[in-house]
Amino acid sequence: FNVPKAVNEPVKEYAPGSPEREQLLATYKEMFNSNIDVPMHINGEEVRTGNTKNITPPHDHQHVVGQYHTADKTHVDSAISTALAARQAWSRVSWTERATIFLKAAELLAGPYRARMNAATMIGQSKNVHQAEIDAACETIDFLRFNVQYMIDIFKDQPASSPGIWNRVEYRPLEGFVYAISPFNFTAIAANLPASAAMMGNVVVWKPSDHQAYSAQVIVDLFKEAGLPDGVINVVYGDPVMISDTVLASRDFSGLHFTGSTHVFKNLWQQIGNNIHNYKTYPRIVGETGGKDFIWVHNSSNPIQVATAIVRGTFEYQGQKCSAASRSYIPASLWEEVKKHVIAQTKDIKMGSPEDTNNFVNAVIHEASFDKIASFIDAAKTDADVEIIVGGNHDKSIGYFIEPTVIVAKSPTYATMTTELFGPVMTVFVYEDAAWEASLKLVDESTEYGLTGAIFSNDRYIVEKASEALENAAGNFYINDKPTGAVVGQQPFGGARASGTNDKAGSAQNLLRWTSARLIKETF
Ligand code: SER
Repeated sequence: FNVPKAVNEPVKEYAPGSPEREQLLATYKEMFNSNIDVPMHINGEEVRTGNTKNITPPHDHQHVVGQYHTADKTHVDSAISTALAARQAWSRVSWTERATIFLKAAELLAGPYRARMNAATMIGQSKNVHQAEIDAACETIDFLRFNVQYMIDIFKDQPASSPGIWNRVEYRPLEGFVYAISPFNFTAIAANLPASAAMMGNVVVWKPSDHQAYSAQVIVDLFKEAGLPDGVINVVYGDPVMISDTVLASRDFSGLHFTGSTHVFKNLWQQIGNNIHNYKTYPRIVGETGGKDFIWVHNSSNPIQVATAIVRGTFEYQGQKCSAASRSYIPASLWEEVKKHVIAQTKDIKMGSPEDTNNFVNAVIHEASFDKIASFIDAAKTDADVEIIVGGNHDKSIGYFIEPTVIVAKSPTYATMTTELFGPVMTVFVYEDAAWEASLKLVDESTEYGLTGAIFSNDRYIVEKASEALENAAGNFYINDKPTGAVVGQQPFGGARASGTNDKAGSAQNLLRWTSARLIKETF
């Protein structure tokens, strides 16, 4: 059980003139012009169906970087049967060997794969250098390293025995296969959803977001080079409804590891419920879904600290982190000061393509997302009850660019206060200082979600009262800090209420969901 102690991968700075910056930008350039052909992966083989879709960078959507191949039903069936065929051998591979493969993947990513993984994430998902580094490199490495440690913690948890009797627990993989559905917004989540189940000895059918195909291909290459056997993680792209219908119809479907929208997750859950009599086991269902993450401020807090948290917590990665703040509640006495700093800091933000490292904000992921966000901003422009205090412009002629935007709403239930937009838009509601307790109730009751949230106060009594009032409002709850940037090994991540099953990503609790324990009592 003496595995290397997990430590967080240090974040590289990519300072001007540094060799790592030059290497990353050169890799970006090369990969941008590579005309990559991304196959599916079934039984370790590259499957090219000829039914392709283009990979286009969100910040330059007329430029075709390459294509990915999509599945029809026969490919999904073959991904399932391949996974099942690989199951017995993989489930009997010793845990030390499984740990070795994933630790090796972490080290390959810390070294030779780092620039490729970051560049693919910058190109395909439109992340700036820093956002790519903390996600595609560091968070992915951290998931791999820490999960190995959590796996050992699980194995060490054994019942008492006595002379003549040995009680022991075998943490076996699920009987069947796990279906992983991953989102576009974090390369680390995409890698972790199939990898955490596979680490525990499971075989996987993985459907990455089509909008993450470029970095998904680098993940596949990474795991292969690290020694992951063929058939353990099988990758399919394409029509999500057809793929899910096919997977969930299988008698051997035994677990769903999902990150994506609340709507899709609820539909999948319902579908699993409808099929329940067909399954060999009760499928495990683990999901992290939508959010409408809040910042609540008391008048005992520091307005500059609050302004910085709003700007960083909302606009990092164009507001497309599930953890991103999108509604704030600010006391009237503090608002003018907070507003001044929010406007100044937001005006300083540069927007554009990620290869220009001065750009903090890049493009949103695709046209549908752009159109949705833009329509809410445009509606706000003509609504007398709201005011846009900074931003508000958008332009999709070259890339899907939306200016970081702050709206002030007179009503705490205004559309952008309650609807998840997944874009760079903050809506502020200013409350009367004396009504701070009522404003906490608004935070708690205005949405169905419970993913992340932050409160700001320098008064311990208020901190306690707010923590109590919001006890179910956020799975990740931040006191005097922005609600984004959870670090594996430090802040295990997951939401409550409609935001998910709260089986924290990067925790023993999550890994336990991918095991089916056998208790053995042996007498001598
Ligand atoms: N680590 C991310 C965040 O907290 C989520 O995976 O923003």
